[in-house]
Amino acid sequence: MPAWDDPKTVAANDPGRMLAALDGYVDDFLTSWKAGSRGPLKIPSPLRNVVISGLGGSGIVGSLAAELVRDSCAVPIVIVKDYDLPAFAGKDTLVICVSYSGNTEETLDVALQAKGKGCTLITISSGGRLQRVHGAHEQHISVPADRQPRAALPLMLGSLLGVLSGLKLTKHRLEPASERHVRSFHEGVKLSTSEQTNRAKRTARALVEKYPSWYAARPLVGVALRARHQINENSKMLARNDEVPECNHNDLVPWGETRDGARHWVGILRTASDPPQIARRLDFFIDLLERQRVTHEEFVADAPGVVGQVLQALVYVDYVSVYAALLRGVDPTPVPIIGQLKDLLAKHGRAPQLAKQIP
Ligand code: PA5
Repeated sequence: MPAWDDPKTVAANDPGRMLAALDGYVDDFLTSWKAGSRGPLKIPSPLRNVVISGLGGSGIVGSLAAELVRDSCAVPIVIVKDYDLPAFAGKDTLVICVSYSGNTEETLDVALQAKGKGCTLITISSGGRLQRVHGAHEQHISVPADRQPRAALPLMLGSLLGVLSGLKLTKHRLEPASERHVRSFHEGVKLSTSEQTNRAKRTARALVEKYPSWYAARPLVGVALRARHQINENSKMLARNDEVPECNHNDLVPWGETRDGARHWVGILRTASDPPQIARRLDFFIDLLERQRVTHEEFVADAPGVVGQVLQALVYVDYVSVYAALLRGVDPTPVPIIGQLKDLLAKHGRAPQLAKQIP
């Protein structure tokens, strides 16, 4: 009997209840969108650019949001996933720092530099030092502190998109028809849906113990990255991701010559509205994988509207990663090696210095 069909095995393998954390995906996303857009938030006038800072399970929300709003946002958005605020940042820059714990030293460093350079700062966290950077709370958005950072993605992504929408930097929203579509898709990948009809369980079975590579074009490039992160952290497996069309100019080459196709599994994330120039590239790639006998799967996000497509694809990859953990018999929740590094940095990294600056 597969692990997911036995409630006792599920409970034993998932004591941190990573699966349960995915239950409220759409509700968490929408509630935090509303909270994020409520404002009133202060922004520079004129606003010339936006920097979004965050790492790992928090950083991914910046990547996803920037990709989503790119077609409509009038100012450039730069994503920062390290310690340094770009040199261009100044009084006309809005800096949004996202850290679930609120204690990630790279993000805290960026927040302090933003304050120092007179940027407008908005922070999103469940607590920690980040919420104390301002000295006042009016520019802070709080999310519930009851889960792992990566399981809080719907909360943080909803908050961030809510902020961008409240500040009129994007017109995108989750339309009611799209919401219904995503909710219905979500029901179909929950634990209670059998493997026969459960798309996420079937994918997990296909990729487990292979070397998964995820591919996507905009607007799902960030979802392919999220898929890799979730397979890394939840399933504890190596994985890769790449983006179309860029990868057609380099990464395509080894797939044309691969001699170890059986080792790999390739996931191609597409939308029902991919433009023909992208669809042709993906079709070409799929033909190639077939010829090279590489196991592959297409996933088509078919919700109406781009926000729904991204959300649907996120729900899919998140469930895949937890089901793969169940099949491997690994606990999806703990990531002790990240904790060990953070403990070391807390003593010897930037953290002691930052602690003095933000008591
Ligand atoms: O998934 C994780 O636990 C990590 O990727 C964290 O998100 C990352 O280390 C950053 O921490 P935080 O999200 O608290 O800023």
